[in-house]
Amino acid sequence: MTIHIGAAKGDIAPTVLMPGDPYRARWAAEKFLSDVKLVNEVRGMLGFTGTWNGNPVTIQGSGMGMPSLSIYANELITEYDTQTLIRIGSCGGMQKSVGIRDVILAQTATSISTPSRGIFKEMNFAPAANFDLLHKAFHAAEAKGTTTHVGNIYSSDVFYDERPDLNEQMTRHGILGVEMEAAELYNLAARHGRKALAVLTVSDHLLTGEALPAEDRERSFGDMVEIALEAAFG
Ligand code: HPA
Repeated sequence: MTIHIGAAKGDIAPTVLMPGDPYRARWAAEKFLSDVKLVNEVRGMLGFTGTWNGNPVTIQGSGMGMPSLSIYANELITEYDTQTLIRIGSCGGMQKSVGIRDVILAQTATSISTPSRGIFKEMNFAPAANFDLLHKAFHAAEAKGTTTHVGNIYSSDVFYDERPDLNEQMTRHGILGVEMEAAELYNLAARHGRKALAVLTVSDHLLTGEALPAEDRERSFGDMVEIALEAAFG
């Protein structure tokens, strides 16, 4: 048990999938895992442990933004000895070549700042995905016939962005999409020698204003869960 996770030590699996939304954690656990057990409900940030193809896996909500994800990822790593952390979430598309429903695998994550800023100071550390997970996720996504992009994303501190000029520069420099968590997940994985990846579905588009219709959200989210599971255990 930690400050923010009520699970007993053995109740968290070495592999943890992290959606931002705790209700998505419940939906994914009930749909894809067997022998599901609720292991955390502190602050309503639900976590579930079950098995997938016989492999133990936990699906734990991270909340929105890097400060929230950092709390859960830190406690999972340092108190529960989690080895593999895969974010499953949505992002806003930032290139014309990236469409709604496409999957983006974040090879690296650019940011203005992360909760690790205090450590890195003047250093521009490059937070990067684990290549083994990235490689397996790419093949799993391709096998599903999902349009998949691999590259740099932008982990922003704000959803309601007042700096359109920065977004323009991100697009100009090939950033595929914007979300709010991956950079710090990658920082923490690097610091503690763990494996991390962010698998993202494009839910809205900053250039076209398009958005994923509500009825499509569940299917796209389900595809991401399967890609993440296959990356972890494939
Ligand atoms: N900005 C930040 N995070 C997001 C977005 C966005 O447009 N879409 C989904 N997550």
